[in-house]
Amino acid sequence: MTDLFAPLEFPRGPAAANAFMLAPLTNCQSHPDGTLSDEEHRWLAMRGEGGFGAVMTCAASVSAGGVGFPGQLGIHADDHLPRLRALADDLRASGAIGLVQLHHAGVRSPSELIGGATPVGPSDHADTGARAMTTAEVESVIADFVAAARRAEQAGFDGVELHGAHGYLLCAFLSPELNVRTDAYGGSLERRCRIVFEILDGIRSTCGPDFVVGVRLSLERFGVRLDEMRILTQALIDSGQVDFIDLSLWDCFKEPVEAEGTGRSLLDVTTDLVRRHDPQGRRVPVGVAGKLHTPDDVRRAIDDGADFVLLGRVAIAHHDYPNRLRADADWRPASFPLPEEHYLAEGVSPTFVAYLRRSFGRLITDTAAE
Ligand SMILES: Cc1cc2nc3c(=O)[nH]c(=O)nc-3n(C[C@H](O)[C@H](O)[C@H](O)COP(=O)(O)O)c2cc1C
Repeated sequence: MTDLFAPLEFPRGPAAANAFMLAPLTNCQSHPDGTLSDEEHRWLAMRGEGGFGAVMTCAASVSAGGVGFPGQLGIHADDHLPRLRALADDLRASGAIGLVQLHHAGVRSPSELIGGATPVGPSDHADTGARAMTTAEVESVIADFVAAARRAEQAGFDGVELHGAHGYLLCAFLSPELNVRTDAYGGSLERRCRIVFEILDGIRSTCGPDFVVGVRLSLERFGVRLDEMRILTQALIDSGQVDFIDLSLWDCFKEPVEAEGTGRSLLDVTTDLVRRHDPQGRRVPVGVAGKLHTPDDVRRAIDDGADFVLLGRVAIAHHDYPNRLRADADWRPASFPLPEEHYLAEGVSPTFVAYLRRSFGRLITDTAAE
């Protein structure tokens, strides 16, 4: 039987205590300047105490010009460091690996959150009015990602994850639809991926040898192609630069949108083709996220080829999912929707609840007050 509570080793850094990672979850609880708030600290620290082997922050902005959400966590200024340090300390004390997700929203930055500026992306984008970045701007954003990783390390986190999914900046660069650049950062798949590899090189030459670095990818939709993302997943592992891959599938067991994967699950299409060892012979774990709710879902994901799981919505509902399951193999999480009081008791502040109502309303029971 799959042992979800065996330690999860990464090529670098400390092992996680188990196969449960808290998925990156935007919660809009940070202060307007991006400083971590007490509420956001509490929500994450509780997940560490609840037994998650690794706890990832929400998408944290690497540049003031790449903010994507009101109340988004920032890691683009040294002023963010003291509060990040306090969080890293508490996560470590709880026994969890602490990770920061590094994010630039790209064309999805609302103008009002970036000082009224026009959002930027790899190429002009008619739907959002975003404009193409100059080559110098691309180089500057690469430096921003590297500086943010260094800040995460200075704050005491074990590592970072590059947010390369969901149509945000890095994902848009990977896309043949959204990236029609003619400089070194556009064109062939290799050139579209270049921004990611340059960030990884920069982090490796700036941060210490034990610093954990992962990459989150979408495999389909958001302008990316399944066949290309599979090639990239393998190239990342083969580069020897990454310590884990996080596949954001939204629904692990559904069929891929692209015909190539018909009859198989999205999870299966990727995991069976990827060779997991890097050139140094170190195993690079591959994690999956998407509608893993019950322990049986989690076991199925591991049995189908994932090395670890990232829990999102169900971890909002249960801060101690891993601890409960370890104590009782028959434990089952509650089903959605759940009343607001349930979330409040799980360390989800009223601000986070309000965001869930706006964006993920089906999680919360309707009330007469609505
Ligand atoms: C409220 C909420 C906020 C999210 N914020 C982020 C985020 O900041 N970065 C990210 O990569 N994905 C984000 N996601 C996606 C989750 O990380 C996860 O991949 C997705 O919810 C699927 O997992 P689940 O079915 O366990 O919720 C978010 C999802 C939810 C529900």
